Order: sequence, then structure tokens, then C-alpha cells
Amino acid sequence: MKTDLAERIRTLSADQWEATVAYRRHLHRYPELSFQEHQTVRYVAERLTEMGIPFQAGVGGTGLLGWIEGRDPGSSVVALRADMDALPIQERNEVPYRSEHAGVMHACGHDAHTASLLGAARILHQLRDEFSGTVKLIFQPGEEKFPGGATLMIADGVLQNPTPKSVLGQHVHPPLVSGKVGFRSGAYMAAADELYFTVIGRGGHAAYPHLVIDPVLMAAKLVINLQRVVSRFARPDQPAVLSIGRVIADGATNVIPDRVHVAGTFRSFDAELRERSHEEIRRIARGTAEMFGGQIEVDIKVGYPPLVNHPALTARTRALACAYLGDDHVVDLDISLGAEDFAYYSQVSDACFYRLGTGNPDRGITAPIHTPTFDIDENALDTGQGLMAWLALGELEHKR
Ligand code: NI
Repeated sequence: MKTDLAERIRTLSADQWEATVAYRRHLHRYPELSFQEHQTVRYVAERLTEMGIPFQAGVGGTGLLGWIEGRDPGSSVVALRADMDALPIQERNEVPYRSEHAGVMHACGHDAHTASLLGAARILHQLRDEFSGTVKLIFQPGEEKFPGGATLMIADGVLQNPTPKSVLGQHVHPPLVSGKVGFRSGAYMAAADELYFTVIGRGGHAAYPHLVIDPVLMAAKLVINLQRVVSRFARPDQPAVLSIGRVIADGATNVIPDRVHVAGTFRSFDAELRERSHEEIRRIARGTAEMFGGQIEVDIKVGYPPLVNHPALTARTRALACAYLGDDHVVDLDISLGAEDFAYYSQVSDACFYRLGTGNPDRGITAPIHTPTFDIDENALDTGQGLMAWLALGELEHKR
């Protein structure tokens, strides 16, 4: 693409950076939990109306689909996606835009994703006489919660009439300094399944252990035995993780309870390993229960699929990012065992999910996502909106 277009986008982005910061701060101040993004989506709709960009609200529940048509709108179509939901975390940042909703916080940067997509939309709308094709704007709800807003948006037809040839999404990344972005081709984020165990014994007085079937000891053994799945069952070159984060044994110092609740996550990439591991997890639960003469009920909730970045699309967007930001501002990412519902777009379309650097160690902006002190260097919004607009135009021009 022409370098003068890159320069125009940089200028437009710089000119409207303050407005995008204001969008982000508003969204940060009024965060909403997954599938409850009513005020958020109203705010998005108001901004798009101001810009003169058409949209349809009520897509996938609390989602919204906007579109920007250039010349010859049917000639080429790409989709840009932002998620809008927040997390059940009490913010601990002392900032003017601190969350005003008790116990709810944009601690995963979805405020920055939404603001960046609004900013990108504004840039693309201003350039609409200079490109051919259509850019779809997917503002989706519920990324943080199963079944994931992406599934609802797809079911509601956001990837049809017209079908985009590719979907692009970005996500904040505190370990990367603002101004930089990161890419990974192929498998990038894991499939995530939730594990729930009900460990059933027979409670009683702690001083008479010979008269009880101790579910606490059984649960402890279960947690240890489950470590076998990753350490001895998965091939060493297959990334997988099994973590138990919840063990509830509601007895007392002198009371052994009847049951213990254990819950955790299993993450993997390979479909066969995923399926076989579920069987192994059930086998381990049976074996552990057998050892104690108790019972262990297993409930595995199959979650998001693995996120696979389309190799050719990722190579193109990475090259475009280098042209827009400079080679030294584009890095390659390691594989992640995190999970992300953007994976659903990657299953049905060519898709690329990249990371937007938002950290700034010099200013103390280093807190990881999903923590009460997470924040971003807002200079990243300039990169976030400008790059997204540039990538969309580059992808529209690409001939299959
Ligand atoms: Ni997120």
C-alpha cells in the first residue's frame, strides 16, 4: 500500500487520540460484566451515530455490528472485532477514571479494545472515498464468560451477508511496551475446559478417622494424582496445563465433612490430546475414589477451542504492521495457555489475533491483566486505532 496513506492514518490517529482516550476513560469508569453490557453498547451506538456510521444493535444479545462502506462495497470485506465486557474485580487504581461500579473493573483492557475500534472506525469513515470494499465492526459482548459472545455474534450472522474474507482482533499486552505490537502465526492460545469434581465420602468426628471415609484426604490425593495428566500423559512437546484453583472442604478442626468440591482448568492445543485427557481425568478420579472406597463425580465443561492464527493472513498483517510502525516495533509472541473466544472466529474464517503493547515500566504501568491495579499507557490507543485502520485497508486490497 501507498506510504502516503500510512502517513494520513498516522495524522488522523494523532488528531483524534484525545477523543479516543476520552472514550476509553468513559468505558473504564462504567464497566459492565459479561452479557450485561447495556450502557456500554449504548455508548458505542451514540459514538457511531455521531460519526455517521451505520450499525445494527441487539446483535448476539448485547452486541453491535457496524459497517463502513467504501467505493464498490461488495468488492472486498474484512471484519474488525473488539470485546466490551469487564471483570468482577474491585479496582485499586487511584485514577480520575477509576471504576464507579463497585466490584466491576475493566481489568482485561476491553475498554481499550472498544475505544480503539471506535477510533479505527472514525479514521476509516473519513477515508471511505479512498478505498474499495466494506469494513465490518464487531463490538461483541461476553468474552470473559462461557459460551463467549463470539459464538452469539457468529450465530447471529455477523460473518454473513457479506462474509468477510478475514477477521482481525487485538488485545492489550502489559508485558509489551506501548508503541509495539506482537504476532504469532498458527496455534497461539489454548483450548480451555473447566473441571468440576464432587468428592464424596462419609463424614464424622475427626478423632475417629477409622469410622469415616475422608473426602478431604481423597480430594488432596485427587489434586496430586491429576498432575499426572500433564507430566506423564501428554507428550512433552505438547503444551498443556492442568491447574486446580478451588478446593472447598467445609468441615471444621474436629469435623470431617461428607464432601469436598474441587474445581480447576485443563488447557491444551491438540484435539486428540484434549479428548484423551478428559478420559484420563475421569480414570484418575475413579481410581482415586476406589482407593478410598468413596466416590468422585466428574463434570467437564468443554470451553473455548484453541485460537489459531491463519498463517498467510498473519504474515500479511505482520508485514503491514512493520510498514506502519517500523520493524523494531513488531515482535513475535510465545505461545500462550490463556484462552480467548476470538478462537471461534478463527474456526470459521481466516483470522488473526495480535497483541497491542500497553505497558510502560518507566511510568510504573506493569500490572498484569485480571489484577486490581491493571492499567494501560494510553499512548497505546494511538497505535491501537491507527494500526487497526491501516490493517483493515491493507487486507481489503489483498487479492485472494
Ligand atoms: Ni481479554
